[in-house]
Amino acid sequence: MTARVPAKVNVQLAVGGLRPDGFHGLANVFLAVGLYDEVTASPAGAPGVRLTVSGRDTRHVPLDDGNLAARAARLLAERHGRAPDVALHIAKDIPVAGGMAGGSADAAGALLACDALWGTRTPQSELRALAAELGSDVPFSLVGGAALGQGRGELLTPLEVGGTFHWVFAIADGGLSTPSVYRECDRLRVAAGTGADADSVPEPRPSQPLLDALRTGDAAALAASLTNDLQAAAVSLRPSLTDTLTTGSSAGALAALVSGSGPTCAFLAADAESAEAVAAALNASGHCRTARTTTAPAPGATLL
Ligand code: C5P
Repeated sequence: MTARVPAKVNVQLAVGGLRPDGFHGLANVFLAVGLYDEVTASPAGAPGVRLTVSGRDTRHVPLDDGNLAARAARLLAERHGRAPDVALHIAKDIPVAGGMAGGSADAAGALLACDALWGTRTPQSELRALAAELGSDVPFSLVGGAALGQGRGELLTPLEVGGTFHWVFAIADGGLSTPSVYRECDRLRVAAGTGADADSVPEPRPSQPLLDALRTGDAAALAASLTNDLQAAAVSLRPSLTDTLTTGSSAGALAALVSGSGPTCAFLAADAESAEAVAAALNASGHCRTARTTTAPAPGATLL
């Protein structure tokens, strides 16, 4: 059983104050994009979860019990009171620790593929609840398309998208750890004198112009309203991202921003031709490992 699961870019990532549970309140507008991981669940030859990974840059993917896909398989098995015996294979195309929810995609894929292999027929609502237990971005990886994520990002409201958007992703060498980028965001807020807790930071709210731009499929309007409150923190930890962002903008991108917690940089282009020109400039610049073009929205986790 193989599930195909998309990557995401955050077209708005408004980060509220640090909550007592260690998470930040978010207004997080997710858009699924056409880069995919595939997770295959096969009958196990031995007890427990056996995990293998293929693709580029997979040396940084943990193969132990901490892997989010393995945890997903164990959580689903536990919920059904059965043994978590499965051989999981992840074919990775989403950058590892890149700010594109690659680990979350693998968890969502494992839930779907194991549910099909084991015949456990978990209702959608239950799968979503399990996904939220696994991570803030995992529910979105299941549903795809576009959605507003509130709470820590797991409370989803689906959003209408009225067209196809053309994107370029500049994939960096190496990743950034999401918790350290959130910590840097807090540190920068404290250093600026505003404080980082929920009393000091305004409640994050979705941007109406951004939601309108998604609904009407207007790329120029979307470009004008893209924001990411984690961008300054990602750039602070990886200053060379400024060169990547400038390269894509100079090559004609409508907008450039860091994807989620980075270090992948995302560029919105007017059309497919412009996206190819931006990708060519990024590939020639040496400011990223590789640049990829794709479109959005993409469907959520799907059994092939
Ligand atoms: O939910 P997930 O396990 O993916 O989150 C990873 C880390 O990112 C959290 O432990 C936390 O440090 C940070 N995070 C956060 N606020 C969120 C989501 C994630 O601070 N809303």
